[in-house]
Amino acid sequence: MSRTPSSQSTLQAFPPAKRTLKIGRHVLPNAVVLAPMAGVTDLPMRELCLELGAGLTVGEMVTADLSLNETRKTRHRRQVSPLEQPRSVQLVGSEPRVLAEAAKHYVDTGADIIDINMGCPAKKVCRKAAGSALLADEALVGAILDAVVEAVDVPVTLKIRTGVNPESKNGVSVARIAEQAGVQLLTIHGRTRADRFKGSAEYDTIAAVVDAISIPVLANGDIDSTHKARRVLAHTGAAGVMIGRAAQGKLWLPGLIAKQLGGEQCSAPSIGQQLHLLQRHVNALHQFYDDYLGVRIARKHVGWYLDGLFVSPFSQPGAAEQTQPDLALTDLEQRDVALKAWKKRFNQLERAHDQLDYLEALHHLAPELLAFNQQAQEETVSLRALPTSYLTSGDLAA
Ligand SMILES: Cc1cc2nc3c(=O)[nH]c(=O)nc-3n(C[C@H](O)[C@H](O)[C@H](O)COP(=O)(O)O)c2cc1C
Repeated sequence: MSRTPSSQSTLQAFPPAKRTLKIGRHVLPNAVVLAPMAGVTDLPMRELCLELGAGLTVGEMVTADLSLNETRKTRHRRQVSPLEQPRSVQLVGSEPRVLAEAAKHYVDTGADIIDINMGCPAKKVCRKAAGSALLADEALVGAILDAVVEAVDVPVTLKIRTGVNPESKNGVSVARIAEQAGVQLLTIHGRTRADRFKGSAEYDTIAAVVDAISIPVLANGDIDSTHKARRVLAHTGAAGVMIGRAAQGKLWLPGLIAKQLGGEQCSAPSIGQQLHLLQRHVNALHQFYDDYLGVRIARKHVGWYLDGLFVSPFSQPGAAEQTQPDLALTDLEQRDVALKAWKKRFNQLERAHDQLDYLEALHHLAPELLAFNQQAQEETVSLRALPTSYLTSGDLAA
């Protein structure tokens, strides 16, 4: 692949070198971190991401209010894995004393790093003036960070957005408060609280924060490839990157970006390897949750994997209903119909072993699917050539 002059200069600015990251006494193997995503990055996903080379994972946020600690959700979020070393626990809350008490509690039960969430825009959190709503009250930010740093003898890290809204981007000011309080790593998502997830992340404010403080900064927001990670690192001077939504259905992405940033020649896993990973992931979800919950949680992950494997150029509401087992796939449009039908079929399965059987069938089709994926770009493909009965008939649910 020939490189443009501009990408060459970016590459020169970041010659292949193994980037590591220090958080207090913890030295991470690389500086590519999986973002905490409540309801997504549960323990099974984090373990697999670590195995696949992510430098660090951060637990889904847990409330600092320990009296709310006994819900089913929090019980799952509190589970510990020997693979998470160091183990970073993210707290959300708004009262300095409560957050400090919670930090102590989690350190006593094995946390190696305490991360404070001041980035989440979710209503449920913000109604209690926690998460990114705190950015509007810098005095409170300081009081929280002082209290938590004082309470524990492990590194405290902070995750923020660039500010409350585009008119009030106080990321630099909050970053200085954090550094002064003794926070040892700052992650910034390049959107304001008011932006929620709209528009594109911007990296100028992240660059300004990197200039303003001397603790390591992780750049976050819309990073979905090694190329993008390189550009963001070059633009901001950040110590590393945090990857969120792009890792959904692509658990190997943080590890791949880390390896490629370090100069390793490697590429994304093959379609067969990805399907194998999907099987392991779904199996792990069944083990981690009970069957009822595991089956339901697996559905969204399978949807993401399939979206990633078979990039769909069409969006056709209701297309799945039109699918017939012997439908002739004449073009990309029909491939899209098939993809939707596979997802729909999977989502109808109610039992853990039916889901695993279905994925096994999909896995056995990997060579045909790969060929299908490639050929569909160029020529007419007949679905009759594929053993689609696996995927559309009811036999798997029997
Ligand atoms: C479903 C979902 C759940 C999230 N949960 C959390 C969370 O628990 N704590 C947090 O600090 N950020 C949370 N975030 C924000 C992400 O960590 C990240 O900052 C954001 O998605 C931007 O990065 P990305 O563009 O790479 O996804 C969540 C994001 C999503 C999409």
